Amino acid sequence: MKLAARVGRITPSPTLAMTATAKAMAAQGLDVVDFSSGEPDFDTPEPVKAAAEAAIRDGFTKYTPSSGIDELRQAIIDKLQHEHGLRYEKPQILVSCGAKHSLYNLAEAFLEAGDEIIIPTPYWVSYADQALLNDATPVLLPTSESSGYAINADDLRRLVTPRTKAIIVNSPCNPTGATYDRKTLQAIADIAVRHKLLIISDEIYEKILYDGATHMSIATLSPEVAAQTVIINGVSKAYAMTGWRIGYAAGPKDLLTAMANIQSQSTSNPCSISQKAAVAALKLGGPFTEKMVAEFDRRRKVMVDRLNRIPGVACRMPTGAFYAFPNISGILGRRGPAGPIRSPHELAQYLLKDIHVAVVPGEPFGSQEHIRLSYATSMQSIERGLDRMAAAIGNFVA
Ligand SMILES: Cc1ncc(COP(=O)(O)O)c(C=O)c1O
Repeated sequence: MKLAARVGRITPSPTLAMTATAKAMAAQGLDVVDFSSGEPDFDTPEPVKAAAEAAIRDGFTKYTPSSGIDELRQAIIDKLQHEHGLRYEKPQILVSCGAKHSLYNLAEAFLEAGDEIIIPTPYWVSYADQALLNDATPVLLPTSESSGYAINADDLRRLVTPRTKAIIVNSPCNPTGATYDRKTLQAIADIAVRHKLLIISDEIYEKILYDGATHMSIATLSPEVAAQTVIINGVSKAYAMTGWRIGYAAGPKDLLTAMANIQSQSTSNPCSISQKAAVAALKLGGPFTEKMVAEFDRRRKVMVDRLNRIPGVACRMPTGAFYAFPNISGILGRRGPAGPIRSPHELAQYLLKDIHVAVVPGEPFGSQEHIRLSYATSMQSIERGLDRMAAAIGNFVA
């Protein structure tokens, strides 16, 4: 069968693929420790479930307006006003089936053949593939681990060409766990404003912060910056609602209208019941997320400490999100029981097959030296998984 050429440019999401493999192995009865999954292990809060149950009972089970129900769009407007001091009107808000879908609508509405989009690297796996699916070219902006993955303004400026249309800002970042300070955001915004680039600010991990790190939306820097920014967010991570599939975009009216039109011709509305649940989530306030983050914090410290005790592994302490992103270059070239480990991919394959620990290799995030482990899993799993990794990697021979 002759498929569309665009399909040949992408691969299935490697994080979802690794999680699916780990789940399939566990279903066969294997004792798998899964560090691959990008979702909180906490249960969705009770008031959110109650709102969904009420929606089902009340027959709120039909099509809704394609861009989302008024109540939810208003709750998003109120959140952005209350937490960031940003003002949006309803036509500037689009509710979609997860932040990933929001980003996809945006890519489809904004990018075309020949366009370039700058993506600071390491990056979340879907940014580049969504650009490729829409015939645009991802232009990777390397950042260094030693500088905490901060963006260097000169490096960014050098990558801007007449074809550059947008830049991605993802703070806190998946996979590095880095957070950008005001100075970094200002430097990015200055370049974006000067060259009229759209800023795509993926703020899905905004509430998952540690060690006193704070989140600042780049759109709050000035009205001029806000006019060139699309904020992407959702309820998946902050409210343990990954399966409910509710994300949203907020930004310039003409762009958001185009995205809404695409959605109306593709998926129509996101699930009616999930929208009611998302309203309840946004009204929850801080306690649920704060409790979850306090627990992630405990696990983060244990995981990073345990990783750093494995010879050849060096892990920075992340200040946001829920991933450790250890540098494993000290292991590369050593021999495991099944042969040499030459890449993060080979290490991840070895860990999965031989010791049943699922991690995501760095390559799809744009790194040849790292693996990603989620600590949004129980402390017991962290201890077990790291015991296995330390024993196995400790036996590699130089
Ligand atoms: C950086 C980043 N953005 C967006 C998403 C998509 O989130 P969702 O589609 O569940 O709202 C994820 C999920 O892993 C993510 O890590």
